[in-house]
Amino acid sequence: MAKPKISFVCQECGYDTPAFMGKCPECGSWNSFKEFRQQSLKSTGFSSSSQTVLSQQSAKPQKLKDIVYSNTSRIQSEYQELNTVMGGGIVQGSATLLAGDPGVGKSTLLLQLCISLAKAGKKILYISGEESAEQIKMRADRVILEQKKKKNFDQDFDSLYLLSLSNPDDAIVHIDEMKPDLFVIDSIQTMQSENVAGLSGSVPQVRYAAMQYIRVAKALKIPVILVGHVTKDGMVAGPMVLSHMVDTVLFLEGEKITRTRILRSLKNRFGPVDEVGIFLMDEEGLKEVTNPEQIFLSKKTENIPGTVLVVTMEGTRAFLVEIQSLAVSTRLPMPRRVVSGVDQKRVELLLAVLQKHCKLPVDSMDIFVNVAGGLKLSDPGIDLGICLAIYSSVRNIPMNKTVGIGEVGLLGELRDISSLEKRMKEASKLGLTDIVTPKTHRFLAQVLLERGSQKEKEEV
Ligand code: TYD
Ligand code: MG
Repeated sequence: MAKPKISFVCQECGYDTPAFMGKCPECGSWNSFKEFRQQSLKSTGFSSSSQTVLSQQSAKPQKLKDIVYSNTSRIQSEYQELNTVMGGGIVQGSATLLAGDPGVGKSTLLLQLCISLAKAGKKILYISGEESAEQIKMRADRVILEQKKKKNFDQDFDSLYLLSLSNPDDAIVHIDEMKPDLFVIDSIQTMQSENVAGLSGSVPQVRYAAMQYIRVAKALKIPVILVGHVTKDGMVAGPMVLSHMVDTVLFLEGEKITRTRILRSLKNRFGPVDEVGIFLMDEEGLKEVTNPEQIFLSKKTENIPGTVLVVTMEGTRAFLVEIQSLAVSTRLPMPRRVVSGVDQKRVELLLAVLQKHCKLPVDSMDIFVNVAGGLKLSDPGIDLGICLAIYSSVRNIPMNKTVGIGEVGLLGELRDISSLEKRMKEASKLGLTDIVTPKTHRFLAQVLLERGSQKEKEEV
């Protein structure tokens, strides 16, 4: 038997070296290397003609003009949000990684996608290393029940196949035999092959399994979707190891306690990145949200000070979100700043601007800032909205119909931001007329002065 090859693999990023190292030269993490012995490969079973097709194609240089590709028809599902995020549908033979925290709803989303495609007559193979076929069936019933209620479930589908298996070498044999229109691997961290050392979820195992599936996908021109869990500690291979290997990386994010789920594309070889799809996790699976205002705007804040609207850009999409703030006087030497949904440092900076340039006494107040609907925003265009919400609470001036669009500079100036027109249009569309932007005012202090004096006038 051949001597096993020894290599040391970084558990954080998958960097592979023949000698042990204390610090990874690739990602900079310490003590992350583990020893692996690579046995000589057992037959993987997948050695059909398609493999030779792949090797023949890559063997001979071809002229660019001679290469023809079948007009890559994309597979579209009934979920428009998902189609948009994937750049118009799933490309034939592409590999997609769907990453996200455990429990966020990845399996649910993919099962819904599979059901929708199977209804359209596509042959789908769902391979799960996590759940048994019965468990998946139970989940499917929940989703199907809902569709039956809505009566758009007219035909029975029998082209969705489930396979509960965690050995990638065996799985690819089934894929090769069955030649489905799409296959799903849930999740890549549960896959374990005897050909590689290490437990399932370790970098070599994850990399090996992903390589096998992607190879089959490319050879047979079948799209594959791999599920990857994001874990906080580096002991389990994070999906970042895989992001180089796949064509598209999607991220499903959302807090467990809120029902909003945002699907983002971080990498896409076949379409634009930064697109987002918005879903709501319900009793019966994930539902598309085509009208985000419904969930991000609360309706009960009539005339209560401390809330202002902002228009945030997520990819190419603009939508309104409500920023809430609460300012209460405190005797603490270090007043509290409790922030959720926006960057804490950004809020501290804006508080400094409010204190210095607008003479707002925030240094003697506890300040709480929250984004309604549990959304996380990183768009600088919401700065003005945050400042207005804080001001509204400090001075007790209701501004719940005011929209603030703009970045706030260190000198208290309002700065232009991207897609201003688009954001303003979005606000006007909902009938909002009180819109503050860098076009209407040059400085934050001007805006606040105006609002303050308006209130004084009203009181007189
Ligand atoms: P799941 O898709 O299993 O998450 P992941 O595959 O990302 O680990 O989703 C699990 C959560 O979703 C679980 O907490 C229950 C919830 N859920 C619903 O709220 N409604 C549903 O219809 C389904 C199927 C799940
Ligand atoms: Mg799952």
